[in-house]
Amino acid sequence: MDKIVTQTVEQTKELGKELAKTLKKGDIICLYGNLGSGKTSFAQGLAEGLGIERRIISPTFIIIRSYKTKNVKFYHIDLYRTSTKNDLISLGIDQLLKSSDAILTIEWAEKLNKFLPKKRIDLHFKQTDDNSREITKNKYD
Ligand SMILES: Nc1ncnc2c1ncn2[C@@H]1O[C@H](COP(=O)(O)OP(=O)(O)OP(=O)(O)O)[C@@H](O)[C@H]1O
Ligand SMILES: [Mg+2]
Repeated sequence: MDKIVTQTVEQTKELGKELAKTLKKGDIICLYGNLGSGKTSFAQGLAEGLGIERRIISPTFIIIRSYKTKNVKFYHIDLYRTSTKNDLISLGIDQLLKSSDAILTIEWAEKLNKFLPKKRIDLHFKQTDDNSREITKNKYD
């Protein structure tokens, strides 16, 4: 388990960028934490680290956004507005979780419940001050 405190949004993005360098197809990065705790900022860093140039906007209203790089597809998913298992199935998220040719990052991943894959990287975000965020990482194989 790694625990890191960031003091600026840029530092949080930088962490995402660093993690991106270690990722491969099939990896699933689950992001947990309250509103404004830094999940989307981290996902922006991930995208940048994967070489995606398009600006990453919060997919809150869209739920799933996909991006393509030379080597890999990247899905940024935000489950905040989903509520049922049927939502996940109708959005095709259950299938996406099974596909191993993309990298996925999922905000509010706790909403996956039983769909939450065993093999994943978990990142918990906690706001500890206006600009401080405590970020805890766990990897499960
Ligand atoms: N150290 C920090 N790391 C990340 N964000 C920070 C930090 N300090 C301040 N911020 C600010 O906190 C906000 C984080 O917003 P962000 O959209 O990343 O959160 P979120 O967890 O995705 O929220 P939501 O659940 O609403 O999607 C931004 O406005 C950002 O500028
Ligand atoms: Mg967000």
